[in-house]
Amino acid sequence: MTASQPVDSDAFRAFEHAGWQNIPKQYHDSFATLTTQAIGPLLDAVEAQSGVRLLDIATGPGYVAAAAAEREASVVGVDFSSAMIAEARRRYPALEFREGDAEGLPFADSAFHAAVMNFGLLHLGRPERALMEARRVLRSGGKFGFTVWSKPEEAVGFGIVLRAVQNYGDFNAPLPPGPPFFRFSDPEECARALLAAGFASPEVVRIPQVWRLRSVDVLFENMQESTVRTAGLLRAQRPEALDAIRKAVRDAAGAYLKGDMIELPMPAVLASATKP
Ligand SMILES: C[S@@+](CC[C@H](N)C(=O)[O-])C[C@H]1O[C@@H](n2cnc3c(N)ncnc32)[C@H](O)[C@@H]1O
Repeated sequence: MTASQPVDSDAFRAFEHAGWQNIPKQYHDSFATLTTQAIGPLLDAVEAQSGVRLLDIATGPGYVAAAAAEREASVVGVDFSSAMIAEARRRYPALEFREGDAEGLPFADSAFHAAVMNFGLLHLGRPERALMEARRVLRSGGKFGFTVWSKPEEAVGFGIVLRAVQNYGDFNAPLPPGPPFFRFSDPEECARALLAAGFASPEVVRIPQVWRLRSVDVLFENMQESTVRTAGLLRAQRPEALDAIRKAVRDAAGAYLKGDMIELPMPAVLASATKP
């Protein structure tokens, strides 16, 4: 998706921001059962426990922050979308959430023992800057961990939809060009970027996840209503192409029927490293 064009980071940020402002509830209904599957391994990777002050970057509705608080870590969640922050505060009124940008965090140097970003990095126009910001707000010896989707051949929910667009629509429909969506699906790229941002000892593992959907229609609906970049790609298609894409997605999802549910493999890549 828009990988080969020069990135306009500001336009891309504005596009992402406008998108997330509109979908906190839809995102929860579609993705919460999926993105929460990564939380345990992510919090383990940064050793979240009692006595740890932890920052949840791109917190969205606050799931990771809430799970870290359950481990008795002292938690702050930050997100650039005021609508997401409102949703997080509504869900977890006892926790602290702040509006702020991952690319310029509103926190002092060395303020946290641990920082995490669950499925946030792939939404940023300047991911390198966000990695450096995560390092800046950590104390020496602090751990940072992030997750992203595995490449679309493995995270089949994305694979099915993107293949349908390639086959029946216009994959190069005009969207604000952003960094490649699957850049950090490559473990070597994760390690390289973490080292370049000044982290040490990067580790990258794959997390198996399964998206359980109640019908073959739900995959297309979720991507259309509860994402930003993929939804933008679908919105940019001509009506006849969109009908063909919806049908192709429906047919492909049918191959994953188990009992009365669709079960789509949606593994994640979990990368973590230490601030020296
Ligand atoms: C896919 S959601 C992930 C939400 C949550 N972490 C989870 O585990 O489900 C991505 C989140 O990143 C946030 N986001 C995107 N760009 C951001 C930025 N530059 N700074 C802070 N948050 C950002 C969005 O508002 C959205 O809440």
